[in-house]
Amino acid sequence: MPAPVRKAVIPAAGLGTRFLPFSKAVPKEMLPVVDRPVIQYVIEEAVEAGLDDILIITSRHKKVMEDHFDRHPELEAALEAKGKTAEAEMVKDLSSMAKIHFVRQGEALGLGHAIGMAREHVGDEPFAVLLGDDIMRGPVLQGMVDTYNEHGSSVVALMEVEPENISNYGCAAAAPVDGAANTVKISELVEKPDVEDAPSNLAVMGRYLFTPTIFEEIAATKPGVGGEIQITDAMASLMGREDMLGFTFTEGRYDSGKKIDYLRAVVDMALQREDLAEEFRQILIDTVKREGLV
Ligand code: G1P
Repeated sequence: MPAPVRKAVIPAAGLGTRFLPFSKAVPKEMLPVVDRPVIQYVIEEAVEAGLDDILIITSRHKKVMEDHFDRHPELEAALEAKGKTAEAEMVKDLSSMAKIHFVRQGEALGLGHAIGMAREHVGDEPFAVLLGDDIMRGPVLQGMVDTYNEHGSSVVALMEVEPENISNYGCAAAAPVDGAANTVKISELVEKPDVEDAPSNLAVMGRYLFTPTIFEEIAATKPGVGGEIQITDAMASLMGREDMLGFTFTEGRYDSGKKIDYLRAVVDMALQREDLAEEFRQILIDTVKREGLV
């Protein structure tokens, strides 16, 4: 069995330009989905997959993310004084759900560069990367950890997209691995290819599990698409030294940095909440009727 995966890295340093004006002063990772910020869903997903050491790559103007996962003794005391014990516990739990660390990316030099900022913290261990504005429901990360434990190779989450949308993603050419459901071996990786050059319609979807060798490749990677240091390019180089596997899935991913997908996340998460689902479902039904949508 390879070294266990304990650490997760969450890049959350981007400017969030797709979500202006909201993201001017508040990080897009702090967008509320029902009553929790997006980044809390991401951390909960990591914890559920057994990763309890979390490094968030942040940047200037994003201190509010640190505050969210810190203790807040005045608030806890005020809630307790009012007999709101459950709420006080909920606030306290945010700082103890995992060991959460922060490092700042001083300049926006790309996703590969942001992940490279984790090198010192991660050291010589395998680690997961969860993009801080992607909400993922279902057993994708757990499946990736299991795949890593079995094969000892880096694994990336892959989902088929409409061919005309592939130029928004990292794209993988891959072939099935015998006897392993959801597992493919990747032969080619390219960041945001033009539709006509794309080797497939399999897109990289915000979850990665890397051996520490990736840090050597990131350090040697030159700026690529958009003038940024791309993790996809570092992964393509890593494939010259180690196998790269894909874990395929079909549903449960929300790109909350995209307005339309954010709205879908809010609706789906609200429908999963015991305290809201019934009333909210009725609101949706009434809206559909009123708008003549069916
Ligand atoms: C990043 C990655 C891309 C990946 C995508 C998934 O792109 O560079 O390979 O497919 O995340 O969400 P971004 O969406 O940051 O442009």
